[in-house]
Amino acid sequence: MKTRKALMVVAVAAASFALAQELDEATVAKGAAFSRRAAAESMVLLKNEGATLPLAQGGKIALYDVTGKYRAGGGGSSDVKAVRVVDIPSGLKEVGFVLDPQSRETAVVVIERASRESHDNSEEWFELSNKERETLAGIKAAGFAKIVVVCNSGHAINLAPLAEDPSVGAILWIWYPGGEGGAAVGDIVSGKVNPSGRLASTLARAVRDWPSDSGFRDYRGAVPYEEDIFVGYRYFETIPGAKEKVVYPFGHGLSYTDFRLQTSDVRSQESEVLVSVRVTNTGKVAGKRSVLCYTSQKGGKAEHPAIELRAYGKTGLLQPGASEELTLSFAKRDLAYFDDEGVSGNPGSWVLDQGEYTVLVGGSVRDVAPAGSFTVAAPEVLETPGFKLRTDTLARRLRADGSYTAVPLAYPTRPGRLGKGKVRKTPMETPSVTLYDVADGKATMDQFLDQMTLKEMLFLCYGHPRVDPNGTGSIGALAKFGISAAQTCDGPAGIRRSIKSTYFPCAALLASSFDPALLREVGTALGTEAAETDFDILLAPGLCIHRHPLCGRNFEYFSEDPLVSGVSAAEYVKGVQSRGVGATLKHFAGNNREATRRFEKDIVSERAFREIYLRGFERAVKEAKPWAIMTAYSGINGYNCGEHYGLVTGILRDEWGFDGVTMTDWWTTVPLWRELAAGNDVKMPSDRGEIDRKAAKEGFGVTLAERAEDADLLTVEAVRTSAARVCRMVMKTLRFAREKAARAESAASAQ
Ligand code: BGC
Repeated sequence: MKTRKALMVVAVAAASFALAQELDEATVAKGAAFSRRAAAESMVLLKNEGATLPLAQGGKIALYDVTGKYRAGGGGSSDVKAVRVVDIPSGLKEVGFVLDPQSRETAVVVIERASRESHDNSEEWFELSNKERETLAGIKAAGFAKIVVVCNSGHAINLAPLAEDPSVGAILWIWYPGGEGGAAVGDIVSGKVNPSGRLASTLARAVRDWPSDSGFRDYRGAVPYEEDIFVGYRYFETIPGAKEKVVYPFGHGLSYTDFRLQTSDVRSQESEVLVSVRVTNTGKVAGKRSVLCYTSQKGGKAEHPAIELRAYGKTGLLQPGASEELTLSFAKRDLAYFDDEGVSGNPGSWVLDQGEYTVLVGGSVRDVAPAGSFTVAAPEVLETPGFKLRTDTLARRLRADGSYTAVPLAYPTRPGRLGKGKVRKTPMETPSVTLYDVADGKATMDQFLDQMTLKEMLFLCYGHPRVDPNGTGSIGALAKFGISAAQTCDGPAGIRRSIKSTYFPCAALLASSFDPALLREVGTALGTEAAETDFDILLAPGLCIHRHPLCGRNFEYFSEDPLVSGVSAAEYVKGVQSRGVGATLKHFAGNNREATRRFEKDIVSERAFREIYLRGFERAVKEAKPWAIMTAYSGINGYNCGEHYGLVTGILRDEWGFDGVTMTDWWTTVPLWRELAAGNDVKMPSDRGEIDRKAAKEGFGVTLAERAEDADLLTVEAVRTSAARVCRMVMKTLRFAREKAARAESAASAQ
């Protein structure tokens, strides 16, 4: 009986929503041109011996597309029904090359690798396949003047055999470059665009070279993050013996021109450090140059990686001889470590360690020059948030000298008591206060919510059915209260619905641009397409860390580095939200493995979690104020992320001040009441009533109140708080504004 009622409400909500609009032609044209530019400006030229590239325009190319399957993007929620897909053969032709299998001028070999959500990639795919090796051997035997390899992959590959082979002249790393990616390859190969991308994640020789590999494939057990803070280049550049494992380091990327960098100033101020760098194009062709600024710390009390990225920026297009001054800055708080061992005497604090900090300026972690330094005489405690994550089962953690030590501390995390609250028992047929009245300041949110029963408030804590078969459902959707059905849609690389839209480059490629302004433009373009096709909340960006080279979703995430992840995400969110569409940071947090992702249990120290896995989220939350955050399927230190009070309320809301909506990833297995008690507002989604049926069966949902009060963890007050957050988010949507205006208009014409 109860189930049937719940289904009826869902059906009413669904009926009020019409299918999305097609994109306008001008938007399609703009999207394509921008997607091409974004891809070309992000592609990374890894090798270019003897100026193999660019090729003379209009020349002949013998193309060896080994699998013949161009990958515009990865599978799963970032898949896009693209307006247009230009593969590599078409792209090379589009810029004027002649594809001629008989020619022996230049061989272009394309290596493709698939990657998708909910699968990790196999170790076999990390190596060149037999077919790829045979193809290369055949090409070498045929005596080509030039050999160029293009890598179109969603994950790292062992490039050592190509990097070390003198007959391979050039390697271009393009990740998944979107619908216009083939044309962008044409732009780079022909020199129409001078490459300026850099690796945002290290490429090493063997899967086992990444310390995260131990335990990664043990799908039965928990995932111990024993490498601790030494993730990516923080591992390869610090741990004795690890440097030799790298084929191409973090930050590596070549150009067709040369640049001179001159640091004119390093100013250490009270709370920030400013670094001014003059960049001059000393070569013969125009180009853009990103500048990466790192620090290296010595003489502290705590463990530190040998080098850490602190800031970066990119010039505009510099003509030969031209220069531009870039001012990079970072806060001293960014240099602080989270003391989870008490070495500073202040456990649970962010501490600026004592010692000498050298500022290094350049490109890759290995191509830097000291630019200045400053000293911190004694440790400074910057903040003491205390411990929010329980760390009692991580057996050991890696130290900078390559040894391991125990993680001695255990901090229990308990959900807070949220207080009791009163709730209306019988539903109102026609509420006297609507959400429009709240928006107009005629009533308070409290007065508005006082009219709802617990069941109605709970309705706001579920996602509702998808209308479009490729869609992701809505949030809100209580028409009698004036609560619009805010439509969500994936995802990071384009508007993923049954309608066509622009296929943008994947996040990992975009981050390789090292150009925050480009990320803002991508966000703006996505926001424009979402608004035009009638969607309110984009389920993007994803900013999990590239912890392991074969995680099935690395292409969808930005980098192994939290600063790159945070800056990229913040700019993307600002762009999306500038169009009146909400962005959703995902997946909060950890979630560094895809196979069995619903059951992944990460075991990680509080220091590593805060410094590596949360830092990007923190920056994006504080700088860009996203409307929403999606909690991850995975668990951390004994709790699933969505039911982790310390994570979702303690850190995200209390420490960082996040005031938007938190939603689960799709179809989580945890009962709703436990997620609500932790501060996770919405369980996504109710797919054709499935969740409601589950709710009734499992005893959450309609019977939530009894269960919650029994458990003494959740009260109606918590449900009400989440319902209020949902209403506030709905009030920000363009849909709500439209419906409110329509209602005012019909009221006026009725008078
Ligand atoms: C993915 C999310 C995505 C959601 C909706 C989930 O399986 O993990 O990233 O937004 O589906 O498609």
